[in-house]
Amino acid sequence: MTSLDARLGDVSAELPVTDGTIRATELKQFATDRGPLMTYDPGFANTAACRSSITFIDGDAGILEYRGYPIEQLAKESTFLETAYLLLGGQVPVGDELTAWVDDVNHHRLIHENVKDIIKSFRYDAHPMSKLMAAVASLMSFYPESRDISNADIRFQNTVRLLAKMPTIAAYAYRHSLGREYVQPVDDLGFVENFLAMMFKQQQRQFAADPRLVKAVEVLFILHADHEQNCSTTAVRTVASAGNDPYTSIGAGIGALFGPAHGGANEAVLKMLREINSVDNVPEFIEGVKNGKGRLMGFGHRVYKNYDPRARVIKAAADDVFEVTGVNPLLRIAVELEKIALEDEYFISRKLYPNVDFYSGLIYEALGLPPEMFTVMFAVPRTAGWLAQWEEQVSDPDQRIIRPQQIYTGARALDYIVG
Ligand code: ACO
Repeated sequence: MTSLDARLGDVSAELPVTDGTIRATELKQFATDRGPLMTYDPGFANTAACRSSITFIDGDAGILEYRGYPIEQLAKESTFLETAYLLLGGQVPVGDELTAWVDDVNHHRLIHENVKDIIKSFRYDAHPMSKLMAAVASLMSFYPESRDISNADIRFQNTVRLLAKMPTIAAYAYRHSLGREYVQPVDDLGFVENFLAMMFKQQQRQFAADPRLVKAVEVLFILHADHEQNCSTTAVRTVASAGNDPYTSIGAGIGALFGPAHGGANEAVLKMLREINSVDNVPEFIEGVKNGKGRLMGFGHRVYKNYDPRARVIKAAADDVFEVTGVNPLLRIAVELEKIALEDEYFISRKLYPNVDFYSGLIYEALGLPPEMFTVMFAVPRTAGWLAQWEEQVSDPDQRIIRPQQIYTGARALDYIVG
């Protein structure tokens, strides 16, 4: 075992280094004028908050693996439900196991009529992420036994429920904004086909999405299913650490995902492309970004200092979608932005590359979805990862309630005088 030789004043200690980390609590051996020595790490950029065996990322090499399987292989060979099973249980489902898993999820797609009422109680123009957050958080009150997180069977049952109901809630949030009747889930349609039918079915007796679009959405769902300790997953784990059920915990995750620096970036990318409006305006826009006028949305990542491997797969999926829907006119602007940014010293020196959100919005728009729905399209598959991380958090004996320290900078011991 290696160790870090540390000395502060008169005190010296050997801090054991395990898996490339030292335990922050070891630093308590050193006293400072403000109490025991702590770490200050805004954004937790260099802090491991848990041990996890779900998702591996090598940000410098641009590698992403779920349970050891490269994302490129999963996108090519797997379905979203197989990938969800893999994330949750650690194994690729086969034979009867797969059939039972798919049946189980399929049979939990319906939502209580009162959950529909919660969605209906919003104004028609409310952001669908608000509806999603409220409806998901409300599910705890429909399944109060989910509060018993010490019981593995109960945990699994509510995991299946939430994974299954998420597309139904998302589709209803969308249809509510259009003033359209809700479409019931259909048993014999696959996870993605059924989701597309619940979103887009109109007067047809049966809605059948183009198989190329089904495959593209399946790929997008796999790519978005998990991404280790990102902002929303950290929100899920934090809420879970206080002893919360999956609905309450994932309700918080949805809130975190909504932010434009996180999942909301796909919506922001489309807005940005519209504002740029023409390929001719791209150089001026890039100059503006370099001079501090906003960020190039869909670029940069806390972990990837190389091309986001998901962005590469999405680019290929976009071509398949455009074959069916026709090319999104904003694509030319996106391609030009990427080309110029990848050659520009500002972006090169900061290792800023396209992330997963740079092209996903273009696909969602080609499917006919408004930008407000893009982050919802992210939340549906990310539920698989949130649930896997929630399970890992609540069953890890090493974990405690998440409660960071602070460095207090305010006033002290003032006398409160009235009048
Ligand atoms: N455009 C222009 N400059 C950028 C961008 C960008 N998109 N991202 C980072 N930078 C610059 C910063 O201004 C900073 O420059 P400086 O050193 O001269 O001050 C440097 O790069 C480092 O940036 P940080 O903000 O410290 O990087 P951080 O790791 O904290 O942020 C983040 C990562 C939030 C993703 C950031 O790159 C960003 O805001 N990107 C745009 C939003 C986006 O696409 N988010 C989606 C991320 S993927 C996801 O969540 C699913």
